[in-house]
Amino acid sequence: MHSSGFYRNNNEELCVQGILVSDLAKKYGTPLFVYDSGLMKERYNVFLDTVANVKGNIHYAVKANDSLAIVSYFTKLGCGADIVSIGEFEKCIAAGMSPQKIIFSGVGKKNSEIEVALKNKILQFNIESQEELEDIYKVSSKLKMTANVCLRVNPNIAPNTHKKISTGEKETKFGIDFKNVNSIYKKLHELDYINPVGLAVHIGSQIFDFNFFYQAYLNLKNLADELVNSGYNVPTLDLGGGIGIHYDNNKAPNFSKYKSIISDLFTNTDYKLNFEPGRSLIAEAGILITKVIRNKKTKDKNFIIVDAAMNNLIRPTLYEAFHNIEPINKTNRSKILTDVVGPICETGDYIALDRKINKVENDELLAIRTTGAYSSVMRSNYNTRPDAKEIIIYENKDYLIREPETIRDLILKEKVIKYD
Ligand code: LLP
Repeated sequence: MHSSGFYRNNNEELCVQGILVSDLAKKYGTPLFVYDSGLMKERYNVFLDTVANVKGNIHYAVKANDSLAIVSYFTKLGCGADIVSIGEFEKCIAAGMSPQKIIFSGVGKKNSEIEVALKNKILQFNIESQEELEDIYKVSSKLKMTANVCLRVNPNIAPNTHKKISTGEKETKFGIDFKNVNSIYKKLHELDYINPVGLAVHIGSQIFDFNFFYQAYLNLKNLADELVNSGYNVPTLDLGGGIGIHYDNNKAPNFSKYKSIISDLFTNTDYKLNFEPGRSLIAEAGILITKVIRNKKTKDKNFIIVDAAMNNLIRPTLYEAFHNIEPINKTNRSKILTDVVGPICETGDYIALDRKINKVENDELLAIRTTGAYSSVMRSNYNTRPDAKEIIIYENKDYLIREPETIRDLILKEKVIKYD
C-alpha cells in the first residue's frame, strides 16, 4: 500500500491510504475536499531535511489552508505558523500551537490585532512600513510590553510568476524599500518596547526559477551583514515561502535545489532562519471531488457541467491556474476537448477551458487535483451555494473536519428589516 498521496489501484480506481475515493464520495457527498495527512507529513519531513544544514525553523503559512485539522496536524508535527490576521492567530491557538511559534505578517495589521498578538506574546511581527512601526510602537508603549520586530524588505525583484501573486517588486504594497531598511533598522534600537529581531523577505508564490530566491536571500544577507558589522544585532532572517509546485504532473517540488541555495548562503552563519512554506506543504495533499451534473454540447463546444464551482475553487478564473481533472475510476475510453464548468452564473466560473480529458457520463465522479492549498480556504457562498465538506485521511481512516453551513444556516445569519 502507498503510504502517502493519491494513487490508482490495480483496477485504475483512485485511492488514498487504502480507501477508495469513490467510497468517500458515497459517504460524504460532493463537492468534497479530501486531504491526505500522509503526504502532509512526508512534505514536512522533506522540508525539515531541506533546512537541516542551517539553523532553520518552519512556520507553516496558514493562509494556504486554515482548516483547524490541518493547522493542528502541522502543529503536532512541530511546525510553527506564519499568520496574517487575528482570525488565523485564533485558529493556531485553537489548534494547540504556542504563540511563541507564531509570526505575524501582513500589510494591514489593525491596532486591535497588534494588541491581541502582543498580549499573547507572539514570536515576532514582520512589519511592512514605517507607518506600521509607528502603530506598533504606540500599542507596545501603551501596554508597556515589548514587541519583537522584524523588517520585511522589498528587494524589487520580479520572480516571474503570476502578477497577482508576485510580491517582491517595488510597485507592490509589500515590504519596506530596500534602501530605507538600514536606517529604519538602526532607529528601532532607540525605541523602548521595540526589540529588533531581524529582516524578512517574501518575493511571491509559485516560483520555479530559484535564482530569484538566491538573489533575494543574498541581498537580505548582505544587508544583515552590514548591520552586524556596524554593531547591530540581527539574530533572525525570515526567508518567506514561495516554492513552486507542479500542478500539471504531480511531481514533487525541487527541494534539493532549494536546499543547495540555502546551504550555500547560510551554512556556518549565525543567523537563525525562518521559513514560511504554504503551498509546497499542502497543495498536493488535497483533491476536490466533484460530480458531473450533465454533459452539454453546442455546435461549437463541449461542456462538462460539474457540481463544484468557482465558489469552491476560484484559482482557475483568478490566476488562470491549471488543475488536473481525472475521472475517479479510469477506464479505457476516448478523450474529448471540453470546458469543465460549474453551475455559477458567470462565464468565469470554470475549472478548465479547452481541456482534453476522458469522456465522462452524467453522475460520474471527477477528481480535481492539487487543491490542498488556496482552494477551500478561498471559498465563498456566491449564488447562495453552501461550501464543500472537508475530510482528512489519517492512519487509514477518514474523518470529517469541516461541516459547511446549510442553506438554512446561511439564511439564519441574515436579517430582514421592516420596510414601512
Ligand atoms: N509568507 C508570506 C509573507 C506570504 O505572503 C505567503 C503567501 C507565504 C509565506 C506562503 O507562500 P507559498 O509557500 O504558499 O507560496 N492565493 C494564491 C497564493 C497567494 C500567496 C500569498 N502569500 C494562489 O492560489 O496561487
